[in-house]
Amino acid sequence: PNRSRSGAHRRPASIGASSSASVDLPLRKIPGDYGLPFLGPLCDRLAYFYFEGRDQFFRSRIRRYGSTVFRVNVPPGPFVAPDPRVVALLDAASFPVLFDTSLIEKRDLFTGTFMPSTELTGGFRVLPYLDPAEPNHAQLKRLLFFLLGSRRHAVVAEFRRSFGSLFEAMETEIAREGKADFSAANDRAAFDFLVRCFFGTDPAGSRLDLDGPGLINKWVLFQLGPLLKLGLPPYLEDFLLHSFRLPPALVRADYDRLTDFFRESAGPFLDEAKRFGVSREEALHNVLFATCFNAFSGMKVLFPSLIKWIGRAGARLHGRIAEEVRSAVRGTGTGEVTVRAVEAAMPLTRSVVYEALRVEPPMPLQYGRAKRDMMVASHDGRFEVRAGEVLFGYQPFATRDPRVFERAEEFVADRFVGAEGEALLRHVLWSNGPETEGPTAENKQCAGKDFVVTVARLLVVELFLRYDSFEIEVGASPLGSLVKLTSLKRATF
Ligand code: HEM
Repeated sequence: PNRSRSGAHRRPASIGASSSASVDLPLRKIPGDYGLPFLGPLCDRLAYFYFEGRDQFFRSRIRRYGSTVFRVNVPPGPFVAPDPRVVALLDAASFPVLFDTSLIEKRDLFTGTFMPSTELTGGFRVLPYLDPAEPNHAQLKRLLFFLLGSRRHAVVAEFRRSFGSLFEAMETEIAREGKADFSAANDRAAFDFLVRCFFGTDPAGSRLDLDGPGLINKWVLFQLGPLLKLGLPPYLEDFLLHSFRLPPALVRADYDRLTDFFRESAGPFLDEAKRFGVSREEALHNVLFATCFNAFSGMKVLFPSLIKWIGRAGARLHGRIAEEVRSAVRGTGTGEVTVRAVEAAMPLTRSVVYEALRVEPPMPLQYGRAKRDMMVASHDGRFEVRAGEVLFGYQPFATRDPRVFERAEEFVADRFVGAEGEALLRHVLWSNGPETEGPTAENKQCAGKDFVVTVARLLVVELFLRYDSFEIEVGASPLGSLVKLTSLKRATF
């Protein structure tokens, strides 16, 4: 009865990334050039944002050069980034070289070819900007592992509380207005959930009250602005947002409000920092960054995307997920949602979450600097990269590579169900590493990997415990999709 199983059409997933298989591939000179100084980067930037758009920008160059590895300028370029020249890696074979810390340095490359002012992060270079070779990388990452581990027990209850209220508010809004803005409500629920889950405190009623998400969104804009599209008239937007940095002083007061709140809320956690060799102040700005930038902004992009893909897949899939989720929760004996039930008894729910992370990775741009001269292999050729050159991966082109995934551009809900599906997980790369591997103090894989997968599954669980089906409307937004719910059909079984 499993009608849309794609198993029969799956292709073998064996590719010769950096393995010995690639030695047989022809050696090619990396195609592409950077054009004239200033003008080349400017033209590439306008093409990337406005004339072609991001996907088409890369697709048209793959066609032009007959190669998924080529030289190109990436935004922002002048005057924000000192050097926009990169070697682009746009297939599943070459992309994973970015995870190899023996070949690649990740220092100050979190946001790409420019780094936002450290005035925006309390004067510190926070963890995502540190290379594992820097001593505080391991200390800070262990400190975050400690935070996530010590609060594991709070995740399910706090999630259900914050997102349960979200869905109740959505129902009221739909009844009143005919539709409800999921994206905006998700911002509030995500911040509320993260603070309660990590620190056991409640932003509502504090001095921050409901201002948290607004303050964070503005602060993130000051960091990522040069990479975003807000929808202003193109030349004006390009001049205002991509050509110069927004002055950090303009967001100083907002950041101070956030630090004051974290200093108070995260007090008991900050007391532990010393044990990990981290000063209280450095721990404060790092835990703020992990919560507000990594976790909050990650959920801001991922959750609307998840609702979008499941929403578009339609009522038949909704019914199958609802059946799975409800029978698994009944199976716990108590009728309570448990992490165990979510992990062990919901294969379709797991697959749906992985598929959303594959088809639309929430953080799509990754960068690394070659530590030495080396070879990078695509499916078709080997390329020589020089020490010091920046490698750039546009992740959707790796995780939607048709030579690894059948129907690669489509959302195939049960793609990762069963043994064959499981074997494809090593090509799911959203966390800056294969889904089959985990973050360590020595690598650069997302510290919140397991947490993210859990909360994404919990969103699906909450949705389908409450509703049989739902409908949506999708629009664009600078960070992620703008998703509105137009109907929520209450559970009937
Ligand atoms: C790193 C994605 C949530 C903490 C990363 C990276 C990616 C990523 C792609 C690597 C960036 C690079 O170096 O190029 C995401 C997404 C999330 C999410 C999509 C949510 C949907 C979280 C959460 C936490 C977290 C919840 C922790 C509370 C970190 C940290 C790093 C990181 C600390 C840097 C790791 C290191 O330097 O070794 N994340 N993340 N992230 N993430 Fe996440």
